This record gives sequence, structure tokens and C-alpha cells, in this order.
Amino acid sequence: MTALTLSTSAAPGLRADAIVIGVAKGTKGPVVAPGAEAVDKAYDGKLAGVLETLGASGAEGELTKLPAPAGFKAPIVVAVGLGAEPDAKSEDEGYDAEALRKAAGVAARALAGSKKAAFALPIDGPGAVGAIGEGVLLGAYSFDVYKDSAKDARAKNGKAPLAEAALLGGKPRDAAHKGALARAVAVAEELNRSRDLINMPPNDLDPAAFAAEAQAAAKEHGLKVQVLDEKALTKGGYGGILGVGGGSAAAPRLVKLSYTHPKADKHLAFVGKGITYDSGGISLKPAGHNETMKCDMSGAAAVFAAVVAAARLGLEVNVTGWLALAENMPSGSATRPGDVLRMFSGKTVEVLNTDAEGRLVLADALWAASQEKPDAIVDVATLTGAMMLALGSRTFGVMANDDAFRSTVHEAAEEVGEPAWPMPLPEHLRKGMESQVADIANMGERMGGGLVAGLFLREFVGEGITWAHLDIAGPAFNEGGPFGYTPKGGTGSAVRTLVRLAELTAAGELG
Ligand code: BES
Ligand code: MN
Ligand code: ZN
Repeated sequence: MTALTLSTSAAPGLRADAIVIGVAKGTKGPVVAPGAEAVDKAYDGKLAGVLETLGASGAEGELTKLPAPAGFKAPIVVAVGLGAEPDAKSEDEGYDAEALRKAAGVAARALAGSKKAAFALPIDGPGAVGAIGEGVLLGAYSFDVYKDSAKDARAKNGKAPLAEAALLGGKPRDAAHKGALARAVAVAEELNRSRDLINMPPNDLDPAAFAAEAQAAAKEHGLKVQVLDEKALTKGGYGGILGVGGGSAAAPRLVKLSYTHPKADKHLAFVGKGITYDSGGISLKPAGHNETMKCDMSGAAAVFAAVVAAARLGLEVNVTGWLALAENMPSGSATRPGDVLRMFSGKTVEVLNTDAEGRLVLADALWAASQEKPDAIVDVATLTGAMMLALGSRTFGVMANDDAFRSTVHEAAEEVGEPAWPMPLPEHLRKGMESQVADIANMGERMGGGLVAGLFLREFVGEGITWAHLDIAGPAFNEGGPFGYTPKGGTGSAVRTLVRLAELTAAGELG
């Protein structure tokens, strides 16, 4: 990963491959953002005009390269768009954290192949340091372990990620600045780890391999880990996880990963859907719908990353992560449409469509999590195509059995720069899941399919436990081109929201 430092150096004398500056959209054209004063001065204060001539407007995502002024050690200046210039008259003047995160990400991505870049973006406090740090580390991400001999491949057709970034204007001796940077590093490293897991091909990341990753991380970070294999799941009566995993040659697992703090008085449980590959099972997905289904373990990857990040940050809260891992495959031992599963909770489920498998593994994990009576449960899942149709590919849906908690989760997401939107759980949709033979069917009305799935999950949350459900089917995997600090492929959706929720709980701000 890119090495980050806080630097008090002045831009002109800095030995680097590039100086990154911010340009914002002013009312009368582009304006150079604070932090780049030395660069602007070297252009005789005419940098904004130069940028405008080069076609820059200051729009988000925009990137303009220009030669550095005479006397600068770095050869080029990279100007990245910050969007609208903040209103000096408004209360919270200063650049929005997400604008800084995106701009830093755009620059880091464009600087792949470079050794060192200096970031002269506006820093008005620790919040900006954290945002720029996260943007750099997330934007510089690349997944190339499968490129034949990664080193040669990089030299031939790809570029190594930016090796080093110095944040100018960051205060290396200021505890708040250092703390913000350390938080950014811990969160981004774990988030990038979740991206690696998502991008890993399903022939290499089956449930057992995923569980082994959790065991290794637990050892490294002093977490408690418990892995239920097929035998233990059978003995425990986890009919949902076994029913989904039964068709695969790679047996399912349920992983419990626990971080505890000696002074904690709150307990959060995170539950992740971990379908290492979703073929649809006997209700097989057609070609065109299965090529990206290695991403169906993104919820489990997010939960995994968030628990490890909470541990690395030493948050004063207990966090238990539950990874419901299975591969959904068709075979002679697979669950058939029409089968009835007896779930861990004791309820029976008629499986009408084996492609609605996420809710089955989650049901068992939610019930397992409920047995510990945590203060709240949050599950994360690439659950329904319907949620993608509703919210598009960048926004996740938030459902909950408690209005206040749904708002808390939504606000936490917004705070960390993750687009999210509240969705309802309309009671009338429960009827569609009535089964002739079992307590409930795993399918209901097609309309509102994302909400139907949420209603199904709600039945497996223990009585009186506050619960929220994040359907990340849209944002988990980026099939388009990279944007901001988001790469193609696995994105690490929901990791930062979960970490924020753990922080809020630790700070006693979660009821
Ligand atoms: N993993 C899919 C949902 C999904 C679709 C995630 C596209 C990411 C991108 C899930 O298991 C699924 O197949 N859901 C079905 C449910 C239906 C059969 C009730 C769906 O959404 O079509
Ligand atoms: Mn499915
Ligand atoms: Zn699925």
C-alpha cells in the first residue's frame, strides 16, 4: 500500500514526481483551492487562468496535468477538481470531506506508476487529513496478484500503485492530525483487504479458504475466532446454511469473529452474506447474470474488515462478526425448489427459488447472533437485484425494525461518504411469502423484491433486538470504470459505515 506521511515541506523544494493541487468551481470560473498558494505564486498568481485555458472547471472527478513552474523540483502539477467552492458565508466553511476523498482518489489513481507525490490539497484540520489519506489509499488500490508474475506484468501492461504520498499542510507533531492519519490507514487497509477478497476468483476463495483468512487475521490482531464446519453446522441444526451449501463440492462454514474491549459496555453484532459464488443453484442464473457472482460474499468481506478495523482502532465496544459462508451450486446434492429446510431458529422454510439463497444463510447467522442478545445487529448483503433496480449501482438500501436506528445507520453512512437510502418494510408484503407447507417461503411478490427479502430476514432476528439490514447489491461491485476513489471490481461497500457505527457505539452515541 501507498506509504503516507504528513509533511511541513514547501512545495517548490520537494523532491517528488508530482504536486497535487485542488481546483474548485467558483462563480466566475475555476479557483485554486487553499494549500496550493506556493504553486499559484510561482505562476505569478495566474494559475486559475492557466487552468481555465486548459479547460479545467473545478468539477468533481476532473484532472488536469500541467508542467510545474520553473524552480520546482517536481516536474508536473496535477490539478484535481473539488466541485463547488465552499460558501465562505456558510457555517461549515471549508471543503467537504467527501470532495477531498474523491479528489485525492482521482489523483492517486492517475499517478499509478509514480514513486512519490506531494498532495497540496486544502487541509483545515484532522478531518481533512483523514479524508485525503483515505482517498489516496483507496484510490491507489490495485488487484494484480493474478497477473502472471505481477512484477513483469506491471512493467509490461500495467503500473504499480503510487508508492508514497506526502500530505503537505498535515502536522506531523499534532496528535489529532497523526490520529486521523492512523485511523485512515487502518480503515483503508482493511477496506482494501475486503476488496482483495471480493476480487479473488471463486475457485480460490471457497468457504473454507475464506474461513482460513479470518483465522489468520484473528491471530494477527488478537481476535477470538470460531469456525463451524459442515459437521458442526449439522450438529447445531443450521439448516439454512447447509441447504444453500449442499450443492457445492466446497462445504459451507459459519465464522464467528469477536473483538472485545475490557471496558466496553455495548455489544454490536455484524452479520455478512458470504456466498463465495452464486450460480443460482438449481434455479440456475442464465449467462449474463453469473459472471460477477464472485462478489456475492461482499457482505461477509465488509463485516470481516470492519471487525478487524475496530480491533486495530482499539474501539471501546465489543463487536462480533458473523460470516455466513457457502457456495450456491447446482448438483445432485443441491437443494431443490420445493424442498423445506429446518432453520437454526426452528422455523421451516419452503425454498421456492434456490437463487434466493442469501436470506437463507443470513437467517441462520442472524439467529445465531441474536442468541448473544447484542445491543444491535446490522447485516450486510448483496441480497437482491431489485435493490439495484430501485437505487442504482452506487447506493445501498437501509431497512430496519426501528426507525431511529435506520436513521442512525443512514446518517453514519452519509458521514463517511457512502451513498445510502432508507427503505421501508411494508407489512402487506409478508402475505406473499405464505407457504402451503412451511412457516414461510423464501420468495414473495416480485414487486418490491428488496423489501420482501428484508421482511424475510426480520423474522430471524431475536425478539426485542434492534436490527438494520444493508442491501449492497448495487454498490458492492463496480462493473463500470473507476471513479473517485472507487476502482473497478470489489469496492469495499459498507466497511466504513460499519466502522463508523462501531465508533458511535463506543462513544456512547448509539442509545
Ligand atoms: N446475489 C443475488 C443478488 C444480486 C444480483 C447481487 C445482482 C448483485 C448483483 C441474489 O442471491 C439473488 O439471486 N437474488 C434474486 C432473488 C429472487 C430469486 C427472489 C434476485 O434478486 O433476482
Ligand atoms: Mn442468488
Ligand atoms: Zn446471492
